[in-house]
Amino acid sequence: MRYRKLGRSDLQVSEVSLGSWLTYGGGVSREQAEACVQRAFDVGVNFVDTANVYSGGAAESFLGEVLSGRPRASYVLATKLFFPMPSGDRGLSAAQIEKQLDASLGRLRTDHVDLYQCHRFDPHTPLEETMAALTRAVRGGKARYIGFSEWTAGQVRDALALAGERFVSSQPQYSLLWREPEAEVFPLCAREGIGQIVWSPLAQGILAGKYLPGQPVPEGSRAASPGMGQFIQRRLDPATLAGVQRLRPIAAEIGLTLSQLAIAWVLRRPEVSSAIIGATRPEQVEENARASGVVLEASVVERVERALTGH
Ligand SMILES: NC(=O)c1ccc[n+]([C@@H]2O[C@H](COP(=O)([O-])OP(=O)(O)OC[C@H]3O[C@@H](n4cnc5c(N)ncnc54)[C@H](OP(=O)(O)O)[C@@H]3O)[C@@H](O)[C@H]2O)c1
Repeated sequence: MRYRKLGRSDLQVSEVSLGSWLTYGGGVSREQAEACVQRAFDVGVNFVDTANVYSGGAAESFLGEVLSGRPRASYVLATKLFFPMPSGDRGLSAAQIEKQLDASLGRLRTDHVDLYQCHRFDPHTPLEETMAALTRAVRGGKARYIGFSEWTAGQVRDALALAGERFVSSQPQYSLLWREPEAEVFPLCAREGIGQIVWSPLAQGILAGKYLPGQPVPEGSRAASPGMGQFIQRRLDPATLAGVQRLRPIAAEIGLTLSQLAIAWVLRRPEVSSAIIGATRPEQVEENARASGVVLEASVVERVERALTGH
């Protein structure tokens, strides 16, 4: 496993990191979830991403339990707030930041997170209030650094113009099937010392090539799961799935699986500090981790991008 510096921070994060949306404390059995985390550490993953809202707090509780046996300095822990909790609490007000961070620390069984992220922008709270509260969280020692997820370039610029702690990370969706942040967020963040930790690098498993156009979704996959499948359904259009199948010979030619090719493609960008994968089985963690260190030649990148769109 290789490691990259997260923006201007002093955090070194593994190129492939492990997320917990839908999976841990949720749709994946406790035993399998624990095996995934264990395998992640075995293959050099040191960066774990979660959020207060994942499975209504159960993802954090699970991680708190399984990580508590490890030295705290041996992993980088990130969580988030914004989306409504089962209690109805939501948003980025100062009161919420204080309350949600304390609740997350309790579930995670730690006195600090390495990265505290705004899961989305909150249009109902003055940005000054949010940034001042995040600054207090850092200066009080409860969060080492702060980040955001899916903010526009304009929102990021407004935050950077304020006094106090500065963001070190951006968490956008980014994959061969979703390139939007390349246009504005990547260049702005690169100039400002903000690293990208990108979510759904496999487009929730679509880029692993398991979904075939015109075929029923495979048993045991996210799309077949009543608990985890609701967000992937609308992305399973036949043209996309056919495009992914055209990547198969290219991956085979360079000795990679489709998942490894997709993750290596994301990691080709120096702006990306880490690709946050999800995994339902330890074998997936191991396979995906091997994408770290793979260098794709420019001609391969070009062929991959063309094949996907059919040009
Ligand atoms: N900031 C945000 O708003 C936001 C939003 C979404 C996610 N995230 C973060 O990003 C993380 C990753 O998101 P994601 O789970 O959608 O990521 P992903 O890596 O794109 O998809 C993960 C899913 O793909 C399948 N998969 C993974 N490796 C595979 C392999 N080698 N072969 C075949 N299938 C494989 C597994 O599903 P099956 O085995 O069930 O098919 C796995 O659960 C989340 O856990 C979360 O931390 C953040």
